Amino acid sequence: MRMLGDLSGGVLNVAACPDEALLRLVSPAGWEALTGRPVVLERELPNYLAKKPLAVLCQRWRESTASLLAQSGIPVLLWGNELPPGLPPGSVALPEFEAEEILPRLEQLSSPQDFAGKTVLVTAGPTVEDIDPVRFLTNRSSGKMGVAVAWAFAVRGARVLLVHGPMTAEVSKLADLERIPVRSAQQMHDAVREHWHEAQVAVLCAAVADFRPDHYVPQKIKKIEGEGMVLHLERTPDILAELGALPNHPFLVGFAAETDDVEINALNKLRKKHCDLLCANDIRKPGSGFAGDTNQITIYAPDGMVRALPMLSKQGAAYCIVDEVARRMN
Ligand code: C5P
Repeated sequence: MRMLGDLSGGVLNVAACPDEALLRLVSPAGWEALTGRPVVLERELPNYLAKKPLAVLCQRWRESTASLLAQSGIPVLLWGNELPPGLPPGSVALPEFEAEEILPRLEQLSSPQDFAGKTVLVTAGPTVEDIDPVRFLTNRSSGKMGVAVAWAFAVRGARVLLVHGPMTAEVSKLADLERIPVRSAQQMHDAVREHWHEAQVAVLCAAVADFRPDHYVPQKIKKIEGEGMVLHLERTPDILAELGALPNHPFLVGFAAETDDVEINALNKLRKKHCDLLCANDIRKPGSGFAGDTNQITIYAPDGMVRALPMLSKQGAAYCIVDEVARRMN
């Protein structure tokens, strides 16, 4: 079972086994909210371990607990300076961490490292097309979906290159991502061109502007009393289509945010842009919009697979996408 399939679904198969000190850091109710499961008291640990959780979070423990954990084979996240000997492989000691780091740490600990040694290129966020020094064209993308995808690959051991426009989404400081910030579609294109050959997987989540002003005006454009203004736009490069046309392109995942004919448009993009997977969502559906934390995605593949995911957190949806990529690549 996935440790953090989707928090709202409450499928976090992890035990928090807090002692007094950890309970002072986070209350029992806080632990339950963080892990989505009842707190496991030390005396309940043997029964809990028999259910094979994916990871256990502890602080100090008595000898008896240490030997129980050692025998269980289940990795332990220890809040402390060093690991006692004999703990299962993958266990980590963290001298200091914040309450909000606990969940991602547990997640890293309990995820398979099936993307270790692979590089994944992710694009995220909007692009910004400047008109003059004060005005620009952009869109409502927050970058959250791309950041969720980047994190989902990173916890599974991948080196992740995140090429992103100016976005509001926060990137976890725990994720070991190489960030390449850009502004315009052209800059995003150039960054992807520079790095695509390093990647075995490319997931293009960015909401790239389709049009940009055909020229940039270096001084602020003045308004003229009573007159409107005509802005001439030209197409931006289609990064995904360009990657798809390359003979040895990485495993390619595209996105399509649609307002109508979702399936027809998704299948068209899948074919035209030569994607290995295409993730589509209907942005008119409540909960599937731009800045929210949830998304309902349907994944399409060239072999005819149509996998409709339920409404999930963006992170939950990102895990499902990574699972699908893993299933097809490994
Ligand atoms: O804009 P459109 O709906 O065609 O976007 C579909 C996919 O193509 C997305 O994955 C998006 O990141 C990508 N795209 C791109 N470069 C563009 C336009 C879209 O990479 N100029």
